[in-house]
Amino acid sequence: MAGQNTVRSSVFRRSFRKTVPSAVRGEGVYVWDTEGNRYLDFSGSAAVNLIGHGVPEIASAMTEQARQLEFVHTSQFTTPVAEDYARELLDFAGENFQGGAVYFTCGGSESVETALKLARQYHVETGQGERCQVLSRTQSYHGSTLGALSVSGNRRRREIYLPMVREFAHVGIPYCYRCDYDCKDGCRNCGLKYAAELEQAIESANGAAAAFIFEPVSGATLGAVVPPPGYLQKIAEVCRRHGVLLIADEVMTGMGRTGKNFAVEHWDIAPDILIAAKGLSSGYAPLGAVIATKKVVDGIVSGAFLHGFTYNAHPVSMAAGRAVLRRLQQHNLVQASDSGREGTIAASLERSLSTLLELKTVGEVRGIGLLRGVEFVSDKPSKKPFAPELNFAGRVTAAALKRGLLVYPIQGCVDGISGDHLLIAPPAVITEEQIDWSVRQLKESIEEAAHR
Ligand SMILES: Cc1ncc(COP(=O)(O)O)c(C=O)c1O
Repeated sequence: MAGQNTVRSSVFRRSFRKTVPSAVRGEGVYVWDTEGNRYLDFSGSAAVNLIGHGVPEIASAMTEQARQLEFVHTSQFTTPVAEDYARELLDFAGENFQGGAVYFTCGGSESVETALKLARQYHVETGQGERCQVLSRTQSYHGSTLGALSVSGNRRRREIYLPMVREFAHVGIPYCYRCDYDCKDGCRNCGLKYAAELEQAIESANGAAAAFIFEPVSGATLGAVVPPPGYLQKIAEVCRRHGVLLIADEVMTGMGRTGKNFAVEHWDIAPDILIAAKGLSSGYAPLGAVIATKKVVDGIVSGAFLHGFTYNAHPVSMAAGRAVLRRLQQHNLVQASDSGREGTIAASLERSLSTLLELKTVGEVRGIGLLRGVEFVSDKPSKKPFAPELNFAGRVTAAALKRGLLVYPIQGCVDGISGDHLLIAPPAVITEEQIDWSVRQLKESIEEAAHR
């Protein structure tokens, strides 16, 4: 086994080959390790933290809850903190979710599993038992549990597990920098072609399509790819027309990250089910949520959802999520994350990151709000990616880490294996000076990786 020449940690880590620093403290945009090194968190860990690290009021809310009541099982009790928080989240999710309900979990993958099963049960209980397939997109990520992996399209993360999962149709995803339709108009018209692929898949499913799950802005797999005009509206219309539930996976894009409460609001579409995690607690506690419309909740006519986890609506996570939501609202952090608004920190991030395009190896800088992607190429005119074994994104990340900068590297944006990009998703409390410093470090890191 790799890594046998080093003393192996008792923690079953993600990688036995790679050593990572040991973190002990966080404050604002910074994290410190045991050696006293400071890191600027330019990726919000993995697009998790929006409110900043070490906010005392969140810790106090969690402590107070743990002191009063650490846990009860949802089969025996509800709690005031869960009831209040669910009402506040429904308000935050907007008019489309009025009269709906929130199912709380411990994270993104659990929430995706919950949404898939909820869609299935909705159809069974509304007399459409033949609907059992969940359609999704080729380059997508919806989580690491087997159900979530089956609807994901991220080749690297799911290939060896494929024999263990039941797969349904995956349709193409608009990725304008490398458009399947080879368009020359910035995908102004391709959105409709991609939406037509979904309609075809629904028709081929012969009445068995239950739901379509999608990330409004591609998260990890493609790196902050924004959909072309008209695409999401058309997707929503196709799903509605065919009675297919629309599940927006906003684990990465929700809770203000893109400058709206939820990213679907940029395109004015109304999903039946909305999934949130990551920014929901900004990482202060394991937390996910499945926000269902009144139509879906009313559809469970038996009155019992056949699903559950021990830690549904854990009181300490509820207290963390509620305090994070209050912090988001009191400090106007959603507005700060809106890159379309002049003078915001998100607009500064967009401007500063765009200077990376001066570099020979940066093919595209993209994204929205505080969710940004930087794609690397070995040859700009032909958009040729680096050979995957060079691990270019990993090399940039290692060079950045040496400089005290945290970014999130991913490979596979071109075809699931090749293609290197970084995800940049800082907390909304970052300052202009910190952005400029980070982009300077990132430039040096990219140049170092290119010259190695
Ligand atoms: C869009 C999306 N869905 C689901 C997940 C899975 O969430 P978790 O890692 O909390 O299980 C992720 C994680 O990155 C994600 O980005």
